[in-house]
Order: sequence, then structure tokens, then C-alpha cells
Amino acid sequence: MHIHYEELQDVARYIENHSHITLEDQKPLLENILNNIKRHTKLDRNSKILEIGVGSGWFQIYCKQQGLQISGLEISPQLMEVAQEYGRRHETELDLEVGNIEDTEIGVAQYDVIVASSVFEHVEDWQKGVQKIFDALKPGGLFYFDSTNKFSFVSGEYNFPLYGWMPNGLRYRLRKARQGEDIMKLGIDFHQFTYPQLRSFFKRVGFSQVLDLVDYKDLDRIGDYKKRVVFSSMKKSKPLKHLALTFLPATMFICVK
Ligand SMILES: C[S@@+](CC[C@H](N)C(=O)[O-])C[C@H]1O[C@@H](n2cnc3c(N)ncnc32)[C@H](O)[C@@H]1O
Repeated sequence: MHIHYEELQDVARYIENHSHITLEDQKPLLENILNNIKRHTKLDRNSKILEIGVGSGWFQIYCKQQGLQISGLEISPQLMEVAQEYGRRHETELDLEVGNIEDTEIGVAQYDVIVASSVFEHVEDWQKGVQKIFDALKPGGLFYFDSTNKFSFVSGEYNFPLYGWMPNGLRYRLRKARQGEDIMKLGIDFHQFTYPQLRSFFKRVGFSQVLDLVDYKDLDRIGDYKKRVVFSSMKKSKPLKHLALTFLPATMFICVK
């Protein structure tokens, strides 16, 4: 993957489609990510957080408002400008760098927490990216990851029946035909992941704890009674958990180095 300084159609589309979203709209989601992180590691103003793929910058802005130290790596100069602008509108100066997680130097044992939300499906050499994140975490550091789930019946990437189930080549052809060749420069989901695939890779890289959504979900924080019963059953029954994880809309992990 390369950094493209010219305007890319899919990035312009992303900016347009997300332009109505406010920090208030995003707060429940951002709060949820932060709460899940805080349940597994101590987070205070001395903690160093890095976000990969900042998009419109909401997680950056939210963390800064909580008094946390956060910086970001973003492959799109177009999106980085948008995030900086949204930051200014919320009286926050964001600490962002343009770069590709595949080949940007992010250091060794530098961070307490690294977050990549809806990013790794777009990273062509995703294993190289995860290895860099592992190296950049301090011992005991935490990696928050969420991404695509291949056998989900709905896709956040593209609205097409059983989109994730399609072979990669077919998905790429469909997207190029409908959205133009540009989509392969940035925006394409190179990967539709599965829980077993990610779990085994995270362990292979060396994370000492690899927790999927069911493992890390705090039952006490689930307000909805039915949802709590479902999660509680999944925690008790491995076959049920694995069946449910196959079809959920996303893959979600918390990994501890
Ligand atoms: C779908 S957006 C998600 C943005 C944000 N994390 C969120 O959850 O709203 C994916 C983001 O990852 C960025 N990205 C994609 N590939 C990347 C790479 N190889 N290195 C760094 N950032 C990348 C994209 O430019 C975009 O900002």
C-alpha cells in the first residue's frame, strides 16, 4: 500500500457520508471502547496511547477530552486534515502523523495501549502491521482490535448480499466495477477475517492474553436483559460461543502483550 497525496474518490465519499456525524453521536461507541480497555489495563494521564487509522479523529478528540495522552497514525493525508479540523472545532490539537502501519517506524516498547478500530481489513499486509504493533507495545501493553467478520450476514464494508462470503478476487472485481479502480488504492477491504484466524495469529505473534469479544465483555455493563442472557450463555458454552462468533458483524479482540 502507498500513501496517496492526490484526492481519492473513496476517501471523498467516506468524508461526505460521515459529515453529519457528531462527537455526541459517537460518544457511546468511544466510551465503550475506552471502558473495555480500562477493564484490562490501568489508564491514566501518563499512559501512552497510539491509534492506527484515525478516520475523522473522534477517538483522538474523545481521549484528549478525558485528559489522556494519545497520538495517531493515518495513511490518508485527506483524512488527517479532516481530523485536524474536527479537533480544532473541539478546541483540541491532535497529534497525528501520516503513515502506513505496514512500513512506518512506530518504535519498540513505546506504548501502553494501541487501538485499531475498523482498520486492519484495509491493511494489505495485515500480519506485518500486527507484528509492528506487538513490537511497539510495552510489556503488559494492550492492543484493541476490531474489524470485519467474513461470515457475517451484513457487511459494514459494502451493501451487497453475503458480501464477506465472496472470494477476495470477486469482491475486488465487484468494487472496482461499481466504484472505480481507485478503490484499490484505499478503501477496499483486502481482508474478511474470522475469529479462529485472528486468534491463532495473535497468539503466534506472542500476545500472552488473547481475549475475543465474549471473553472480554463485562456482563454487568450490558443493560439489555436478553443480550445479557445471550452473552452469559456464550461465556458458559464454548460451542455456542464459537457458533455465534462465526456470524457476528465484527471480529473484536483485546490482546495483552
Ligand atoms: C474505516 S476507517 C476507520 C476510522 C476510525 N478508526 C473509526 O473507527 O471510525 C479506516 C481508517 O484507517 C485508515 N487506514 C487504512 N489503511 C491504513 C494503513 N495501512 N495505515 C494507517 N492507516 C490506515 C484509513 O485511511 C481510515 O482512516
